[in-house]
Amino acid sequence: MTMPLKSDATRWGTLAKAFHWTIVALLLVQGTLGLVMVELPKKPSVIAWFTLHKSLGLTILLLAVLRLGWRLFDPRPAEPASMSRWQVAGARVGHALLYALLFAVPLSGWLFDSATALRPLIWWGLVPMPSLTGGAAPGLKDIAKEAHEWLFWTLVLVAAGHAAAALVHQFVNRDEVLRRMLPQRRSRIG
Ligand code: HEM
Ligand code: HEM
Repeated sequence: MTMPLKSDATRWGTLAKAFHWTIVALLLVQGTLGLVMVELPKKPSVIAWFTLHKSLGLTILLLAVLRLGWRLFDPRPAEPASMSRWQVAGARVGHALLYALLFAVPLSGWLFDSATALRPLIWWGLVPMPSLTGGAAPGLKDIAKEAHEWLFWTLVLVAAGHAAAALVHQFVNRDEVLRRMLPQRRSRIG
């Protein structure tokens, strides 16, 4: 079976799946890196981990922009007819929240970095990124840092609910919702 790039009424296209699972994998690495790096002893050697965290975080932000951009041209498949209206509405609100957090988490990190203005922010050491505050902003520093941490934990919570919902689809409703988001979906017999 061919794997179309675009989604259609019954399945997710290859690109939508690739965005979904690449972002999930990078978020796992990035969240772990963030939690570990802030616990490391404050020595100059930790700077490299912070720099990696910032570049990877900006990469996730870029992927979120591309993903949402693609989504405008690539309407999602229909929900299974067995889902009630409130379930569909709940899923929509959950997905909108996940998209919002995919932007809010890296943007708050970037805002914190701009507010502290310790070092220039250069994406993977190649692309100089603008300051979101136009120089140090001591008043914003603590707010942005708190926001970054709390938005991250909100993302963890919403994503956990989302993953649990996917498992309910698979094992309770026994519909195609999880299967059609998985990387390989070949035509099956029976
Ligand atoms: C989706 C992307 C991101 C995720 C999931 C993420 C996650 C995290 C987490 C879990 C922490 C530890 C929070 C704590 O326990 O104190 C953290 C800290 C931090 N993040 Fe991110 N982050 C992301 C993007 C970014 C970006 C784009 C930047 C900057 C350009 C950034 C800058 C920082 C900094 C500077 C800290 C250390 C804060 C401190 O000193 O306590 N993050 N991040
Ligand atoms: C941080 C982790 C995750 C994020 C940010 C995330 C985000 C999203 C978003 C925004 C959508 C909506 C796609 C759209 O309508 O454009 C979606 C769909 C989906 N996600 Fe995730 N996801 C995450 C983790 C997971 C995990 C772990 C699973 C599986 C256990 C999963 C399974 C699915 C499925 C099955 C769909 C399609 C739902 C449908 O057809 O309505 N996701 N995800």
